[in-house]
Amino acid sequence: MPAFMEPFRIKSVEPIPFPTAGQRRTALVDAGHNLFRVPSRAITIDLLTDSGTNAMSAAQWAALVSGDESYAGATSFEHFQTVVRDLTGFDEVIPVHQGRAAERILLGELLGPGHFSISNTHFDTTRAAIESKGASAVDLPVDQTSSAFGGDIDPGRLSEWLSGTQAHRVRCVVLTITNNASGGQPVSLANVGVVRELCDRHQVMLLLDASRFAENAYLISERDPGQSGRSPREIAQAVFSLADGCWASLKKDGIANIGGMIALRDPDLARRCRQQLIAFEGFPTYGGLAGRDLEALAQGLLEVTDPAYLRYRASTARWFGEQLADAGLPVLQPTGCHAVYVDAAELLPHIRPEQLPATALANELYLSGAVRVSDLGTLAFGRVDPHGGVDIAAPRELVRFALPRRVYTKSHLEYVSEVAAGVAAKAAQIPGYRIVEQESALRHFTAALMPL
Ligand code: F0G
Repeated sequence: MPAFMEPFRIKSVEPIPFPTAGQRRTALVDAGHNLFRVPSRAITIDLLTDSGTNAMSAAQWAALVSGDESYAGATSFEHFQTVVRDLTGFDEVIPVHQGRAAERILLGELLGPGHFSISNTHFDTTRAAIESKGASAVDLPVDQTSSAFGGDIDPGRLSEWLSGTQAHRVRCVVLTITNNASGGQPVSLANVGVVRELCDRHQVMLLLDASRFAENAYLISERDPGQSGRSPREIAQAVFSLADGCWASLKKDGIANIGGMIALRDPDLARRCRQQLIAFEGFPTYGGLAGRDLEALAQGLLEVTDPAYLRYRASTARWFGEQLADAGLPVLQPTGCHAVYVDAAELLPHIRPEQLPATALANELYLSGAVRVSDLGTLAFGRVDPHGGVDIAAPRELVRFALPRRVYTKSHLEYVSEVAAGVAAKAAQIPGYRIVEQESALRHFTAALMPL
């Protein structure tokens, strides 16, 4: 079987819109040149995110019907709990409506003013949850983006932190698997092992942001010769066994459209989280979810570690990365599973960071072919200069072509590559943008822009 051939067939389909060039231009102007504000009915291929955009299997749709919607003690919760316990080895299982709810509850319990959380890279919602408690999020990624395990935390710098003058203020180490902010690169099993030892030595909790745990496990099986004989599920279990607990946005590797969880060893910490859950999310046997969602997630968590599915997913990302590179885009290598990342600054050297090169590339892809990607450059991660000068640039001007799970076929992605080739060919004519309206935080979701 070719590695990237879809290991499924399609039972239910949904038409996709093909807006004309005029309709695309109007939609972008009406949206203030911000792709988050463009309605999905004006998008042909939507690669904005792999979060909650997945296609469920027939078995998941069937599981929905058996959802138990009892307020308390639903069998759907028991089912979900059994699957999560078996996968993670963590006894305390707490459902929540999505990843950021888990972060707010768990990190809110662990951290307070003056505390630190240290990570390979905190995702932006994780950082927001930490900072909202008056604590600080410290990122210590390895300094080798082209290595096999570019998602690792830097063990040397972590060790310095844990024995440094602020060590007594460190409440947790968080490994984000895979590391979304560094190109979706995996964290190695060896790295998790080293971090476990450091955390034991310094009595600090080790937590996983396990939103893409299955993709991380598969990439370990591909890239670590010592692990190639193990299944992705066994590798995921080995990774979980080294941590004290985890949380996850199950909108990713739960292969569903909504959901999240916290899973822990410590019953006392779990008890405190459940108190928060009851106040802000829902009773502990449903979190913020319906019983039917828990059933779909339980089934999705069984399907996601299927080696044939994961091999198809990683191979598709690799093939798509090659297509985009052939189309003339500077693609970050190696590709991970959930997305292909492109360096907009390299493609558009005539656009200065404050003129938003990542936004410029994303918008041109939309104008050329109604393809929506996400902009991870200065609009998303830059900072407004408090003294009114030009914005402080983001470290990189990346554009992410995220791959929803089981949604688009190879011919859809070929179409995106064709659109990308047209855009790359006219790179020198692509205009930069200026911001005309913005909020003080998370401005990229709502800002209005104008082309220069
Ligand atoms: N952690 C990671 C690593 C994530 O990628 C995300 C979401 C979250 C936590 C938050 O989870 O959305 O369920 O509240 N990432 C999405 C993305 C939004 O497009 O990468 P959530």
